[in-house]
Amino acid sequence: MLPGISAKSEKEQNQTIQNYYKFQSKIYDLTRWSFLFGRIGIVKQIPFPRDAKINILEVGCGTGYNIRLLAKRFPNATITGMDVSEDMIDIATKQTARFGDRINLICGPYMKGSKDFNEQMDVILFSYSLTMINPQWSELLEQAKVDLKKGGVVALADFHNSNFGFFKRHMSNHHVRMDGHLLKAFKDDSDYTSVYEKVKAAYLGIWHYVMYIGRKK
Ligand SMILES: C[S@@+](CC[C@H](N)C(=O)[O-])C[C@H]1O[C@@H](n2cnc3c(N)ncnc32)[C@H](O)[C@@H]1O
Repeated sequence: MLPGISAKSEKEQNQTIQNYYKFQSKIYDLTRWSFLFGRIGIVKQIPFPRDAKINILEVGCGTGYNIRLLAKRFPNATITGMDVSEDMIDIATKQTARFGDRINLICGPYMKGSKDFNEQMDVILFSYSLTMINPQWSELLEQAKVDLKKGGVVALADFHNSNFGFFKRHMSNHHVRMDGHLLKAFKDDSDYTSVYEKVKAAYLGIWHYVMYIGRKK
């Protein structure tokens, strides 16, 4: 097991993330533009007309970067952002205030077993959250299927893999698992039809990131 990626209980995992973002929230937007690639691209690929009245959920919405992109791209959408870190949600609240009450932010963990969004969502976005949610990421994928309408789409932008052990160890110190496991899980899931799939190199191949969109059958 790499450092930072141990088999934690859900409670321990959520606490680890909350502690991590106490400081990281303060430098998040200043730093993440330089390595969280694919976020603009995945929002552009979401296969709904721009004027669609759709319900979108972002799991792990952080400081609200994607919520702003989504709100601009889909001006009639209602967008819910969930995040387990109060520090991140506080920033997201300020950053998305101008979009008014079509944005709904919830501070709390996205978890298996919730009935809150049962088949209500047209789009569920996971952007750089799932590689940090270990080992519960696969339970969250199951939950997303419960929360999506039939014909709704799940969208992913995240780290994919790296051929460099030093880099994987560095990322695991930041609680990120990079094993190509997310794309494999989506592709193996017969409840989704793949709509869009791309793996791209970052910084001449130090790591690869993945973008995926699947439609719930
Ligand atoms: C790397 S940030 C990504 C933020 C944003 N999606 C983006 O692309 O900039 C990961 C976020 O996921 C949140 N997170 C981790 N586990 C979570 C869970 N179980 N439920 C909701 N949010 C979670 C973290 O608090 C953090 O804000």
